[in-house]
Amino acid sequence: MADTKKLFIKTYGCQMNVYDSERMAEALGTQGYEETQTPDDADMILLNTCHIREKAAEKIYSELGRYKGLKAAKPDLKIGVAGCVAQAEGAEIVKRQPMVDLVVGPQSYHRLAEMEAKIRSGARALDTEFPPEDKFEHLASRPKAKRAPAAFLTVQEGCDKFCAFCVVPYTRGAEVSRPVQRIVDEAKDLVERGVRDITLLGQNVNAYHGSGPDGRDWTLAQLIWELDKVDGLERLRFTTSHPNDMGDDLIEAHGNCKKLMPYLHLPVQSGSNKILKRMNRSHTAESYLKLIERIRAARPDILMSGDFIVGFPEETEEDFQATLDLVEEVRYGYAYSFKYSTRPGTPAAERALVDPAVASERLQRLQALITRDQRAIQDDMIGRDLSVLVERPGRDPGQMVGKSEYLHAVHIENCDAAVGSLVPVTITGSGTNSLSAQRRPI
Ligand code: 5AD
Ligand code: SF4
Repeated sequence: MADTKKLFIKTYGCQMNVYDSERMAEALGTQGYEETQTPDDADMILLNTCHIREKAAEKIYSELGRYKGLKAAKPDLKIGVAGCVAQAEGAEIVKRQPMVDLVVGPQSYHRLAEMEAKIRSGARALDTEFPPEDKFEHLASRPKAKRAPAAFLTVQEGCDKFCAFCVVPYTRGAEVSRPVQRIVDEAKDLVERGVRDITLLGQNVNAYHGSGPDGRDWTLAQLIWELDKVDGLERLRFTTSHPNDMGDDLIEAHGNCKKLMPYLHLPVQSGSNKILKRMNRSHTAESYLKLIERIRAARPDILMSGDFIVGFPEETEEDFQATLDLVEEVRYGYAYSFKYSTRPGTPAAERALVDPAVASERLQRLQALITRDQRAIQDDMIGRDLSVLVERPGRDPGQMVGKSEYLHAVHIENCDAAVGSLVPVTITGSGTNSLSAQRRPI
């Protein structure tokens, strides 16, 4: 194409942003854009942003500052801000950075092509509405490009839980689930393009209640069983879940659905009931532990993953100790922990902060405990026979790299298997962030 333009997308934050960036690149592909890996030769730079913590949002402004020189040298360069900072700050972004041409919130990506045409004519485009339509339905895509073996698929968006610290209900809006058939069609399309492992995404994915082919609302478990029937799709995962939406049928699916991988990200945020109440989590440490017991009864080897916030307003040393106790009890294979960050507009924003030095020190202690368990669980994999989905060649000759059922990165030595194949292996070693393995004869 004579007038191919170059698009540089930089993605921040969660996996849903990764998925959205792919969709936006496809939509702009229909406008003659091809992706580039560097901002230097781009005709359009799009930042897909995250607003979950203050640091994440501030990064955007420093990143925009870095593009000033580029824009001065190339006045035709268009700069766009998408994602949750766009949603939360809207026109404020243009005020702080007048060189921004386009601001688009996560619910308006289907209008991106139209907005691109508008900015090409020299105008500014700003859209942060919550239209009552499925943006994915209207997002055009390119003809079937080959895909990597593991992919994300958004099935649900938004959140109605209103945890006291969280911006998601404001930036992503109310819970909306996509219809079953559209998800199944997208999964089949992904499989045709080489995908074997799909992670179903949603801010509150286990609250999924999309309309099924029978006209009723289906649960996430029903959706999973439907996807289980897709030939060529080998693995399913879902994230992120809320403890209160872990239905019996979903727990049962963890026990019986072979394609559903033994990995579950189930954030608890704190181990203190007082703090959980102040966070508006509507579950207790005990109900969470009981739930994990039931999940482990269904799938004993399931690897648990979680999120924690330390230094939430009013958190005492005793409250923090309850978090450490809960972590000791659960033994997480992965866990993400954050220092509380005040988000304007959320209920907790008005409350008195814990001393930042105390919060930092707690974060370090929690992370040390999590790392200990993570490492021990990884080391326990040595000697086990696992299955690895091969994703790419490794650094050493003959080495291939992929993921185990438990989402650990695995380096397979002397492996001639193709990308996208499932390889039976025996785990032989455990490093800082990955396992090593030998291929087993089939
Ligand atoms: N401060 C710190 N961490 C936060 N998270 C969400 N909001 C905040 C905040 N204001 C964390 C939670 C959530 C994860 C995605 O980010 O642990 O599960
Ligand atoms: Fe935010 Fe998750 Fe709570 Fe929803 S359930 S408000 S996304 S932390």
